[in-house]
Amino acid sequence: MKRSALIDLARRLPKAELHLHIEGSLEPEMLFALAKRNAVDIPFKSVEDVRAAYRFSNLQDFLDIYYQGMNVLRTEEDFFDLTIAYLNRARADNVRHAEIFFDPQGHTARGIPFDVTISGVLTALKLSVPQFGVTSKLIMCFLRHLSEAEALATLKEAEPWLGDIAGVGLDSTEVGHPPEKFASVFAAAKERGLKLCAHAGEEGPPDYVRNSLDLLKIDRLDHGNRSLEDDALVARLRDTEMTLTVCPLSNLKLCVVKDMRAHPLKRMLDLGLRATVNSDDPAYFGGYMNANFASVIEALDLDADDIRALARNSFLGSFLPEGQKRAHLAAIEKTPVQSFAP
Ligand code: HPA
Ligand code: ZN
Repeated sequence: MKRSALIDLARRLPKAELHLHIEGSLEPEMLFALAKRNAVDIPFKSVEDVRAAYRFSNLQDFLDIYYQGMNVLRTEEDFFDLTIAYLNRARADNVRHAEIFFDPQGHTARGIPFDVTISGVLTALKLSVPQFGVTSKLIMCFLRHLSEAEALATLKEAEPWLGDIAGVGLDSTEVGHPPEKFASVFAAAKERGLKLCAHAGEEGPPDYVRNSLDLLKIDRLDHGNRSLEDDALVARLRDTEMTLTVCPLSNLKLCVVKDMRAHPLKRMLDLGLRATVNSDDPAYFGGYMNANFASVIEALDLDADDIRALARNSFLGSFLPEGQKRAHLAAIEKTPVQSFAP
């Protein structure tokens, strides 16, 4: 099949997005609009200026700009608008289910109350099914450069909202902040019935992935690229059907891979790993779900079976109930390999 037909197949397939930081969907245009609305100074003169600043040589380079961008998010309406804009883009890419991360500590640290952030996001997510035909779940991340005591305080603040929070995650600076630092807060989250995710193996070594499994008892692995350096770990991830939420354009922009042709996604599939495609921080990394698919289809010569497996994995790895997973899987099987549009 031609590349263009494969990219078209990826576009038409129903998909779930499992690794998306809502703050990372803040497009430069909205950054300017919110800076104006809230009278916040930003160090950029134009949208082009902003895009030019989005050149990163590692994760920390990006995080510095990401936390700076968050500064324009002040009110419940801002978080609502941000989330609605993402749902619009998700729908356009035929994303039927989205499990969305948010970083409450990135906001409470600036004096924006937890309730302001979560109310804005949740009010938008309540519209995700009726207005966009997209189901959604919300995952609260702890910032790993902060202390575990601060993560525990955040979990406490979240207590009244737990009915609307599906799980917890762990993000921000990976190296130097190993998973074991957060073992107690993950145990407390598990006790409260929350699902557990952690970024690991993006820049950190395979041991960070192993310790996320053993000490945090994660249900899902975010990134996980560096697991491939350890054959025993790969076998374990395969045998336990652990889902990896892989983010190709993010990996390229943050120099986790030198070139998209060196991206490990195809190898992960060939090794039997449950890999998925996701956009991570699409406003910063150059594209949403379908752009991520297109980038790996072009660079890695994926075939129609690979693409269908990636779509299937996204629902299998989701926190949806089994019945909903089955309905999405059936829709994937029914999606014709060729489009019959004229
Ligand atoms: N890695 C770690 N922290 C993050 C990321 C990421 O890719 N995106 C937003 N916070
Ligand atoms: Zn991420």
